[in-house]
Amino acid sequence: MNEIDHLGTSLLADVAGAQDEAALEQVRIAALGKAGSISALLKTLGAMTPDERKEKGPLINGLRDRVQTALTARREALAEAALEAKLASETLDVSLPVREGPEARGRIHPISQVIDEITAIFGDMGFSIAEGPDVETDDLNFTKLNFPVGHPAREMHDTFFFAPDASGERKLLRTHTSPVQVRTMLAQEPPIRVICPGRTYRMDSDQTHTPMFHQVEGLVIDRQAHLGHLKWVLEEFCKAFFEIDNVKMRFRPSFFPFTEPSMEVDIQCSRKGGEIRFGEGDDWLEILGCGMVHPNVLKNCGVDPEVYQGFAWGMGIDRIAMLKYGMPDLRPFFEADVRWLSHYGFRPLDLPTLTGGLSSS
Ligand code: DAH
Repeated sequence: MNEIDHLGTSLLADVAGAQDEAALEQVRIAALGKAGSISALLKTLGAMTPDERKEKGPLINGLRDRVQTALTARREALAEAALEAKLASETLDVSLPVREGPEARGRIHPISQVIDEITAIFGDMGFSIAEGPDVETDDLNFTKLNFPVGHPAREMHDTFFFAPDASGERKLLRTHTSPVQVRTMLAQEPPIRVICPGRTYRMDSDQTHTPMFHQVEGLVIDRQAHLGHLKWVLEEFCKAFFEIDNVKMRFRPSFFPFTEPSMEVDIQCSRKGGEIRFGEGDDWLEILGCGMVHPNVLKNCGVDPEVYQGFAWGMGIDRIAMLKYGMPDLRPFFEADVRWLSHYGFRPLDLPTLTGGLSSS
């Protein structure tokens, strides 16, 4: 093999062996740069005799063309491979779950979760939400709800009273969410379908009572709203809330000044092995008070009892949260202990819905 073929074989091997564009550039400089091996051969042409040039010229130019062609092809191949690698490294699988950011580590308090669940269930039945203040007047918390001044039922509420103001009025921390019923009836015409979740206060503290707790009130006022409707609403609520297909409920006669008749509702459960299960068993658990709104309350709120009637109920949110999620003690609910919250709390991005699941996390 002559010198030119030899050089060609060696340069083409270098071109094929270059692994990236920088290495390929080194090969080009070594062959075709100012001091390159092919450039050196091209320079020898000037000193040759015409016959020599006729013979060597095509060989040397041919070598240059072959190397140049090989360089161009290799450069394209390397650029294409680099692009492929880049595209492969940037592949994004949009079907993968979202990677959790710091916001996903926070937890929703069980009370907030349960209020969201209750809202989702009653919202689906066509109820809207009504709210009222925690600091309430005696009139709205008691008198308008048919607790006459001096009535013994007032004493059962262990009320926190404020000192009388300049006009002698003594405000209080509402002892139940029932004053929101009154506010709603005073503010809007029937038909009314509202639930009123919120904080309530009584001087009481033990494993299942705290001075501040939560209730949700329900109120329906219409021309023909009756106990059958109340029973259906409560049954549907319990099935949806406790996520069971069947629930057995017991309506016991009771007394509240603002309803007539009044009832307390128990649901059937089993307590085998210290664990409460609903929809089975032979035990009963009280979950709420309810009844037909007393005609005096309707009158006090500007609703004509000859035209309208309705039903109401009041339920302890903390209590049903404890029952549903198996929390034995109410006090830690309000101690703001992060360890408790990370155990009993709910994932912030899983909103409770009837279609997606109330408590899917
Ligand atoms: N307000 C009552 C309580 O705190 C609960 C209650 C009972 C509310 C019957 C109602 C009802 O609306 O109809 O003990």
